[in-house]
Amino acid sequence: MASKVGIRVNVNGTSYEREVEPRLLLSDFIRNELRLTGTHVGCEHGVCGACTILLNGHPVRSCLTFAVQVDGQDLRTVESLAATDHIDRRKDAMGNVEERRPSTDALSPLQAAFWEQQGLQCGFCTPGILMSMEAFLNENPDPTREQVRDVLSGHICRCTGYHDIVDSVMAAAKVKRALAEEGISGRDLLRRSYLAE
Ligand code: FES
Ligand code: FES
Repeated sequence: MASKVGIRVNVNGTSYEREVEPRLLLSDFIRNELRLTGTHVGCEHGVCGACTILLNGHPVRSCLTFAVQVDGQDLRTVESLAATDHIDRRKDAMGNVEERRPSTDALSPLQAAFWEQQGLQCGFCTPGILMSMEAFLNENPDPTREQVRDVLSGHICRCTGYHDIVDSVMAAAKVKRALAEEGISGRDLLRRSYLAE
């Protein structure tokens, strides 16, 4: 067995130090070592996009990356999108009996748009698409449908037919622009009113 290598990574704002084998895939590191199972693994050879995460703000296939390659880097996974403090408050209020799933009120504008516009069915592809679109909308807050489709071409969804995913991203872009322009922090109320148009 190959000797292990020490790495330190910042994932979703938390610093982790681990000893890993040089051959360990980043996708397996995230899922099995860090127990962040929101990142999905489909094809494991860079085609489906399900394993997409953000490395220093840029989308990468975690199944095509070794964990040792991200030593000292910043990662974001789909778990970074929702407001987890809200989840914890809700779990406390409900006696901790609820499964670890955010309410729609805790979702980010992008996640909420997927929820409201039926941008997912089984949800297997969704974490990867969300992370690609999170980076894309940060760079291009006012995209065309064609530009969204271009980014989406890096992802395979077996369920939705893609049209609703494009609708979801366009709706999220609209909400995010409105929030940025108006500087209003009550994003849940705003998000719902814009999505309802
Ligand atoms: S699991 Fe990585 S691209 Fe499919
Ligand atoms: S929602 Fe099922 S694979 Fe995309």
